[in-house]
Amino acid sequence: MTARFSRIAGTGGYLPAERVTNDDLAARLARDGIETSNAWIVERTGIQARHFAAPDQACSDLAVEAARAALDAAGRRAADVDLIIVATSTPDMVFPSTACIVQRKLGVAGCPAFDLQAVCSGFVYALGVADAMIRGGSARCALVIGSEVFSRILDFRDRTTCVLFGDGAGAVVLEASDTPGILATELHADGRHVDILCTPGTVAGGQVVGDPFLKMDGQAVFKLAVGVLEDAARAVLARAGRTEADLDWLIPHQANIRIMQSTARRLKLPPERLVVTVDQHGNTSAASVPLAFDSAVRAGQIARGDTVMLEGVGGGFTWGAVLLDY
Ligand code: UT7
Repeated sequence: MTARFSRIAGTGGYLPAERVTNDDLAARLARDGIETSNAWIVERTGIQARHFAAPDQACSDLAVEAARAALDAAGRRAADVDLIIVATSTPDMVFPSTACIVQRKLGVAGCPAFDLQAVCSGFVYALGVADAMIRGGSARCALVIGSEVFSRILDFRDRTTCVLFGDGAGAVVLEASDTPGILATELHADGRHVDILCTPGTVAGGQVVGDPFLKMDGQAVFKLAVGVLEDAARAVLARAGRTEADLDWLIPHQANIRIMQSTARRLKLPPERLVVTVDQHGNTSAASVPLAFDSAVRAGQIARGDTVMLEGVGGGFTWGAVLLDY
């Protein structure tokens, strides 16, 4: 029998050990004659610090740590998992997928495992896909992971981007359930905006062809993000037959505190209902939403029964929202 719903059974997160404050980063950039400051970064983004992975840590290593924590929280073993999705834009290799590498590192085999590429919307997309697969009957216990090592694709000569991003991983165990769970999902993309946020390089003929560093038109992304986050929030509420007043928590993609606060204001949500980790994590792309979710659960903020909205937005252009009862 197929399940009518999926629900989050446990959450996990992982941050690499090296914590880099704005002052640390400013000092590093200054060695190359590039000027930035803690004051600028805090004022424009809300970011105070980020974590960078060690040179020998791959995306899959971060993912496995977050996955193990989520399995523990759910009271499940890796052998119980029958679907693994890793949302990432910084995979270990061109192929195979980071999800297959995670599967091997977890010591299990047989279940489907694949990566999902939707940049900063990746986790929200992956949760939508896992929910559909569980409701469709092809999975009962899914590991849904967002994991990134964006430090590898940052151009530390470009102060307009390198101060914004960090590394990390977040994960949830999503299980079949007779009660919700995930109430509704909204996923969107508009490929006309491919160029405003991209890492265009690729591997061909034995070398990297094209620019291997992240490029962003920050103001264009900012303007689009503010609009689509409000639209997706209203659409997912309508789809679930709920209103803004039903929301206990909003967890938007953690890119810029100003974008997040604007979304909360537009939804008339009190500021204390907004989960904020961008100050300590920076923008961890597909990892940002599950990391923030896990932080809020472990801090005793989000409690069982709370209604939570997750929102992603980023390269593609992609965006989406998931509404759930935790
Ligand atoms: O993850 C996907 C989603 N990504 C986002 O949501 C990011 C969206 N965009 C943003 O968050 C913002 O546009 C940024 C934080 C990237 C930039 O903030 P802004 O308020 O749009 O600044 P700006 O680009 O208009 O730059 C203002 C000034 C410029 O100087 P001038 O031309 O006014 O003299 C920049 O050169 O700030 C300068 N600047 C910096 N100064 C010190 C840019 N980066 C830095 C820096 N330190 N790191």
